[in-house]
Amino acid sequence: MIEDIKIKVSEKLKDHPKRLRHVFGVYETAVKIAEAHHLDVLKVSMAALYHDYAKYDTIEQQVSHLEIKIIKEFMETPVIYHAFAGAIALEHDFGIKDQDVLNAIRYHVWGRKNMSDTEKVIFIADCCEPNREFEDAKKIFQMALVNLDQTVEYCMKIGIDHVIYQKFQPSRDQLEAYEYYMEVNRGEIK
Ligand SMILES: [Fe+2]
Ligand SMILES: [Fe+2]
Repeated sequence: MIEDIKIKVSEKLKDHPKRLRHVFGVYETAVKIAEAHHLDVLKVSMAALYHDYAKYDTIEQQVSHLEIKIIKEFMETPVIYHAFAGAIALEHDFGIKDQDVLNAIRYHVWGRKNMSDTEKVIFIADCCEPNREFEDAKKIFQMALVNLDQTVEYCMKIGIDHVIYQKFQPSRDQLEAYEYYMEVNRGEIK
């Protein structure tokens, strides 16, 4: 199954070699983090390989199978559509109905409050896979082998800082998720 998924995603992203390297970087990184925490490697693998599957579809293609509620919710932040569209593609192409796998794809861009371990691993691996060209990537990977929640908070901070650096406003969901993980790591939420 994983081999078939690799073939499918390689075909889909064949004109985007950099993105394909990123996807395989996320996959390899996510597997290592999952193994370190004794998590389900198969679930993490499927989510990693499909997380950016719909990245280069047009917005029209991305939203074509989405619920109206989701389309409206992310109207101001259409970058999220590729994530929801990726989850639909995995379900459609391989019959995957495991909501944990699909949620890890759906919420990989900003993360969200109260993520499962699978979701955390994909969110972190997307942030620190080896093709990411920033200094902290290696450090984040090492941190992820030890503590997922602290690493999630760290990656969320990087994401928010990046948005601000680009002179955009972080979304409310993004900020709420970050605040949630700060509270988790202060021991205020169990
Ligand atoms: Fe993405
Ligand atoms: Fe990605």
